Amino acid sequence: MNLVFLGPPGAGKGTQAALLTKQYGVPQISTGEMLRSAVQQQTPMGLEAKRHMDSGALVPDEVVVGIVEERLAAADCVNGFILDGFPRTVAQADALSVMLRKSGKEIEHVILFDVDTSVLLERIVGRRMCRKCGRGYHVCFDPPLEAGKCDECGGELYQREDDQESTMRKRLEVYEAQTAPLKAYYSTGGLLRSVDALGAIQDVYGEIQKIVGRD
Ligand code: AP5
Repeated sequence: MNLVFLGPPGAGKGTQAALLTKQYGVPQISTGEMLRSAVQQQTPMGLEAKRHMDSGALVPDEVVVGIVEERLAAADCVNGFILDGFPRTVAQADALSVMLRKSGKEIEHVILFDVDTSVLLERIVGRRMCRKCGRGYHVCFDPPLEAGKCDECGGELYQREDDQESTMRKRLEVYEAQTAPLKAYYSTGGLLRSVDALGAIQDVYGEIQKIVGRD
């Protein structure tokens, strides 16, 4: 199961990747999560990344490509991976195809989360994340059992710094300008599959299971 999830911020990539990981044990590789963890640990890379993330811009390609290459070489990726939020530029997509070729792997499907941008703001401003395990929630669409507390580990729920409305608008512009061209890139290669990401979480999951042949 070698998958790439493509879609605008708030489309539901992280939510669906977490469900697949839970069911099939294939690791979710979220560049956003890896970068947030580097920011939290205040590593030199994290401090550099923070400047870009806070403004809603992309982190430079060479930084992100480096962390993905290292992550894909880990033992738990031997049976597959779900790339959540990578690649996000044509240069990243080219780098991914080189690194996969070197390791004798290939992408099975690129799943495009097709969603009307009008719902994204509502999803993003209502999103809450667990400080401890990183699980995502939504105050209305996917609430925790107890407000402010993670169902899985009891950790404190918080709102991401880049989930403010102004930063969100910038992230959407960046998506259109730099990431949306990947639809044509992967469509040409015959890898692109689309899911209706406007549906309820379980309905979207059902569509993805059909694509990956495990429904
Ligand atoms: P990243 O963390 O990857 O953010 P993103 O791509 O903007 O995506 P999101 O995490 O915002 O959304 P999602 O699609 O995962 O939605 P979710 O499932 O959480 O990146 C953050 C930053 O890091 C970037 O801006 C950039 O600076 C940097 N970065 C990361 N990768 C990079 C790269 N490759 N290159 C350069 N820079 C990079 O869902 C959203 C909410 O909606 C949740 O609350 C959820 O509960 C709810 N929800 C989900 N599905 C549904 C549904 N079907 N119905 C109703 N609610 C739903």
